[in-house]
Formats: sequence, C-alpha cells, structure tokens
Amino acid sequence: MKKALITGINGQDGSYLSEYLLSIGYEVYGMIRRQSVSENQSYRIQNLNQKIKTFYGDITDKKSIDNILSEVNPNEIYNLAAMSHVRVSFEVPSFTINVNSLGVLNLLEAYKDICPEARFYQASSSEMFGNSIDSDGFQRLTTPMNPTSPYGCSKVLAYNLVNHYRNAYDLHASNGILFNHESPRRGTNFVTNKVVKGAVEIKKGLKKNLELGNLDSSRDWGHSYDYVRAMHLILNNKQPRNWIVATGENRTVRELCAYVFDRLELNYENYIIQNKKFIRPEELKYLKGDASEIKEKLGWQPEYTFNTMIDEMIDLWMRKIS
Ligand code: NAP
Ligand code: GDD
Repeated sequence: MKKALITGINGQDGSYLSEYLLSIGYEVYGMIRRQSVSENQSYRIQNLNQKIKTFYGDITDKKSIDNILSEVNPNEIYNLAAMSHVRVSFEVPSFTINVNSLGVLNLLEAYKDICPEARFYQASSSEMFGNSIDSDGFQRLTTPMNPTSPYGCSKVLAYNLVNHYRNAYDLHASNGILFNHESPRRGTNFVTNKVVKGAVEIKKGLKKNLELGNLDSSRDWGHSYDYVRAMHLILNNKQPRNWIVATGENRTVRELCAYVFDRLELNYENYIIQNKKFIRPEELKYLKGDASEIKEKLGWQPEYTFNTMIDEMIDLWMRKIS
C-alpha cells in the first residue's frame, strides 16, 4: 500500500486529493496547522477523519516537517500548502514569501535528507506567468514567467527551487503548473464561489447587490476534482518533470457573472457594483493554458465543463441557503 503525505490537506485541493488517493488504495497522511477554531479547519475533511491520519505542523517550521517525514516515510509527497490568495498577498508580502517559497525550501531539504526515494509534487501556479502570453493566446511551459503579485513571485521561487533540487540531487520532484480550479469547496473570497454565493443570496432576497473588483480579467477555470487526478498522474510518471494543467478555454469575470445570474433568472447588470477595494495593485489580465502534453502523454482528461462545475456550485448554495 502506497503512503501519501499531503501538506494543505484541509484545503480545497487537499480534500479532493485525499478522497481520490483513498479511493485507489493509498494510505493518506496530512499536515494541518493549529487554528483557534478547530471546526473551521476540518470541515472539508470531516467525512475522512477515520480514514486519514493528520499531524500538526507548518511548512515554515522545519522541525515539524522533519518529524512528520520521519514518522510517515511517505512514497509520495504533495505540497499543496500555501498562502493561496493573490489579492491578500499584496497585504502580507513577506508572510507570503515565507510560506510559499521558504516553506518549500524547508520541505525540499527535509525530503532530500530523510526520504529521497519518495516522489515530490509542488503546487505551482499559472499566476507565475503574469501577463506573458504566447502569440497564439496560450501559456505553456516555455512562456516567460513575469509574475504580477507577491504570490506569483513566491511561486516562481518555489518552482525554481524544485527544478534545482531535482537536477542537483537526482530527486523525483515535479511542478504541476495548474490554472485556476474551483469547486463547491472553494473559499468564498475567490471570485467563482463569491459570485455564486452572492447571486444565490440575492435570489433568495438576503442581499441587494454584490461588490466585485475587475470584471474584465479572463481566467481558465477547471474543477479541483479533475486537477487532483492530474497531480497523481504527474507523480506516477516515470520521469520527474513539469506539466501544465488547464482546460484551454477562458472567460472573463463578467461572463462568469452573466452565466451565474442567468441560471438564477436574474440580470447581473442590475446587481454588480464595482468596489476599488477588490482591485489589485497590478492585475493579471488573461490566462489560458495549453494542456495538450498532459492529455497526450499521461491521458489526463477533465470530466467537468465550466457549466457543469458552476451548476454544481449553484446547486450547493441553493440547498445551503434557505
Ligand atoms: P487552499 O484551499 O487555500 O488550501 C491551502 C492549504 O494550505 C490549507 O489547507 C492551508 O491551511 C494550508 N497552509 C497554508 N499555510 C500553511 C503553512 N504555513 N503550513 C502548512 N499548511 C499551510 O488552496 P487550494 O485551492 O487547495 O490550492 C492548493 C495549492 O495549489 C496551493 O499551494 C495553491 O497556491 C496552489 N494552486 C491553486 C490553484 C487554484 O486555482 N486552486 C491554482 C494553482 C495553484 P489553513 O486552512 O490552516 O490555512
Ligand atoms: N477574489 C476576487 N474577489 N477576485 C475578483 C473579484 C473579487 O471580488 N472581483 C474581480 N476579481 C477578479 C480578480 O481580480 C482576478 O482577475 C479574477 O477575478 C480571479 O480572482 P481569484 O478567484 O481570486 O483567483 P486568482 O486568479 O487571483 O488566483 C487563483 O488562481 C491562481 C492560478 O491562476 C488562486 O487559486 C491562486 O492560488 C492560484 O494560483
């Protein structure tokens, strides 16, 4: 039985990845941080509590990583832990670099010294590209990285560290450059779930309008369930290397709003208010990923479409909010 260790196990992707790995026969271990309200921390993995084993730790605390790796001795390490909110990263830039870059360095050092035979996955991000776009309108592995946020910068450093540790120490360490992915478990301060929740509240008469930032930026939105299966394929490829995971389609935030409100028989233009608070000091305007390689070489295929994903999120909020 293979053993997987997941940092960020109680996040959106960590919860889907745990379910997927359990379903294919893995033993699943996870690192969680201590929080003052422990119920908030575990709601995404509540149903898995009997099946997974979690340890308190923090990727900025090297000693905690050493202890967990020594105890678990995993075959696969998935580093999903991060300060993952781009706009918040402008407000806490050093914290973001500390967790997302130096935290990864701590993990790589511990991995190299304690369990170098394991395989390592790093949750890299399309935010690393910033506003670089190839002439055909896509981003791919060769697209220059010009990040436009402290979060993007932090992920570029981590990406380079993973490449360096792979080359220098012959480790099976890979980066998955994942484009935006969502689900009903997405934090409600990310735009998809914020729009869906807000629109349902308006539909149910609980709210009059919804405040957003930039409506013109475009994102390539997939489903977390599909993307965690890609993470597993990446680690189970013989050669460690980097991959792009994306849908290859993009939409603007305005188009997202139009779809969601329309499904609820509302006109978004009557309810959306722009608030400067949600505009970023520098905006990444356009993301569309070329995932042809992972489809051709590893056989990855998403099951969800944009519409089925958003419909699932709407259905959940319609049931949740009375
Ligand atoms: P998420 O829901 O915000 O989950 C992040 C997880 O990291 C949470 O469990 C969080 O724990 C944990 N964490 C934060 N700081 C930590 C630390 N110092 N030590 C240990 N754990 C820590 O994010 P997600 O959407 O699942 O994304 C997973 C990973 O993929 C992240 O690295 C993200 O940057 C990256 N990524 C995400 C996307 C996307 O669109 N979702 C795209 C590309 C890359 P708490 O609950 O205690 O905060
Ligand atoms: N969050 C948020 N809130 N975003 C808004 C809002 C708002 O009120 N109004 C407009 N937006 C726009 C943002 O400016 C951005 O252009 C787009 O909606 C998407 O924002 P988020 O959902 O916050 O995601 P993100 O693209 O910044 O970052 C996500 O994707 C990255 C991969 O590209 C995160 O999951 C990152 O962790 C991930 O790496």
